[in-house]
Amino acid sequence: MRIALGADHAGYALKQALAGHLGGLGHEVVDLGTDSEEPVDYPEFGSAVGRAVVGGAAELGICVCGTGIGIGIAANKVAGVRAAVVHDVTTARLARAHNHANVLCMGGRIIGDQVAKDALEACLETAPAHGRHDRRVAEIAGLEDAGVDVAGSRAG
Ligand code: RB5
Repeated sequence: MRIALGADHAGYALKQALAGHLGGLGHEVVDLGTDSEEPVDYPEFGSAVGRAVVGGAAELGICVCGTGIGIGIAANKVAGVRAAVVHDVTTARLARAHNHANVLCMGGRIIGDQVAKDALEACLETAPAHGRHDRRVAEIAGLEDAGVDVAGSRAG
């Protein structure tokens, strides 16, 4: 599978560990940076991963910052992205099965390398569940299409 990775400085080390792990599993890694622990701003990297996934350059995205939260928020601003912050095997499995997550976000300052690798493998081994989950994911896409504003109506 072709997998895009992006991180800020706080996620750099975990991104490198995950990239190496994915390569060892035979996946093709698309590394969108950052390239060191020099401080950078995470929105650039989260949006780059999101665009790679939605644009078809990658089938799955991985985002890493200190917590996984900021870079995940940024990735989710790209229409079509379903980025989920995961902390372990269970959250990774359910993000994929129930939420059809196409971008996995992790915190380099939160979880260890082995937990992150196990979570990533759990995601890769899990297929999206259908039935009621399809309906809910479609409702999320509907919110995006409608451009829901603070009043719950169409933005324009
Ligand atoms: C960087 O210091 C940190 O704020 C960032 O990596 C991330 O945790 C934000 O959500």
